Amino acid sequence: MCFRAVVIFLALTRALEVACLKTFPPGFRFGAASAAYQIEGGWNVSDKGESIWDHIVHTRPGFIADLSTGDVACDSYHLWEEDLKILEDLGVDFYRFSISWPRLLPSGFPNHISEDGCRYYSNLIDGLLARGIAPVVTLYHWDLPQNLQDLGGWTNPLVVEWFADYARVVYSLFADRVKTWITINEPCFVCDGAYRDIIAPGIEDYEIGALLCTKYVLLAHAAAYRIYEREFKHKYGGEVSITNQEIWLEPKTEADWELTLLAREYAFGRYTYPVFSAEGGWPPALEAYMAEKSAKEGYPRSRLPAFTPEEIQLIKGSSDFFGLNHYTSRTVRAPAPGERPGLYMFESFEEVGAVLESKPEWAGDGSDWLKVNPEGLRHNLNWTRQLYGDVRILIIENGCSSEDTLNDTGRVSYIRDYLEQVLLAIDDGIKVIGYTAWSLMDDFEWIDGYQTRFGLHAVDFSDPRRARTARASASYYRRVLRTRAARGDHTEL
Ligand code: BGC
Repeated sequence: MCFRAVVIFLALTRALEVACLKTFPPGFRFGAASAAYQIEGGWNVSDKGESIWDHIVHTRPGFIADLSTGDVACDSYHLWEEDLKILEDLGVDFYRFSISWPRLLPSGFPNHISEDGCRYYSNLIDGLLARGIAPVVTLYHWDLPQNLQDLGGWTNPLVVEWFADYARVVYSLFADRVKTWITINEPCFVCDGAYRDIIAPGIEDYEIGALLCTKYVLLAHAAAYRIYEREFKHKYGGEVSITNQEIWLEPKTEADWELTLLAREYAFGRYTYPVFSAEGGWPPALEAYMAEKSAKEGYPRSRLPAFTPEEIQLIKGSSDFFGLNHYTSRTVRAPAPGERPGLYMFESFEEVGAVLESKPEWAGDGSDWLKVNPEGLRHNLNWTRQLYGDVRILIIENGCSSEDTLNDTGRVSYIRDYLEQVLLAIDDGIKVIGYTAWSLMDDFEWIDGYQTRFGLHAVDFSDPRRARTARASASYYRRVLRTRAARGDHTEL
């Protein structure tokens, strides 16, 4: 009885909160996102170099569920003006896209800058600005030049220099027009996903490779941040950060709190604490846990590689805002006796002995991994402030997959419900400065190929012109942008 009363009270409170929602504050920015390999195609045009995705789709076709490739994808390399049209129709404040490292630097190094690569991004940026849309540019969204991978990729300490050199070239070409930069998209996938054979380069080495990668990805990010800070900021006044995907993790029972905190440190704190905490370095509980675990395993030193004091200082504070990609939530519990948690990142963080599960009420109608829990976003935003203080937060990805239908009511509800939570978080006093819908249009969804649709716009992949058609969610989002309110649903469009 008492429990029912609490549930009813909570439901009423939520309904009341939602009913009182206001509009987004002035200055709050809305955008839509994409990534080079997922949309560009033109994989071998002109002098473009091979990326780790070009390589894996051609050498290990079974890696992709539908045996497809990103060779053509949305063909944005040729059809970028179509992308500009749909962005303009949406009325977004900004477009977040990524630059393909091997398209701009075919050898991976700045000894040769591709004229075609440069022209492509320059035209895109100019086209955006001409339409009043700000470019938000990611330097690395998972498509490393393959020759750098052959040299060890993100586990080779020299990758820090290679990435810094690449970043300097990009800034010198485009920083006069681009004011918001993301160095690296979701290092958890770049390291933990790549070294669990989930994304390219598809290597099984999560005990050593993934953790070496964690260190060098952070150093590479910091090097790119510091170059901008030293050489470009005074001229252009832009901002640079990194973006992390965070799953909201909550304990399955009260007894699972400690494990949940450790799992948060392992999964995301590993990439955020060194940058955003006042102390810098690895999250303390995780550092101690990994040192003890590695010693028990017989390693002479922790598998989580140490930072020098200089490295800690270099990384600490290397951000002008907090980039957050958020899609889903999980509960955390310890494995039952004899249970071996799966290795997949949405099933477990086995390194710290955390099994991840969902709640029945979080069911969604999209991808299996994408359990829908809008409140998770508000919790996540509050947790970020609790850890890192009053940092400005830019939501750089949020969205869900759907069937290949134009009437994507599930996505309309998903975006509306998550946006409502953003408004509530703003009411909580969190400095959320913007929201980016993933994705502008259907694309090559990594190992899912074209089976999974995340687009506000449908793309007809059987059409050589790759026609882009607005879904119901695009109309909904257009209205959000116009009214600056999250309210309403597809029935009112
Ligand atoms: C990635 C995107 C991807 C999206 C949906 C994010 O982790 O940054 O590239 O398409 O998830 O799967």
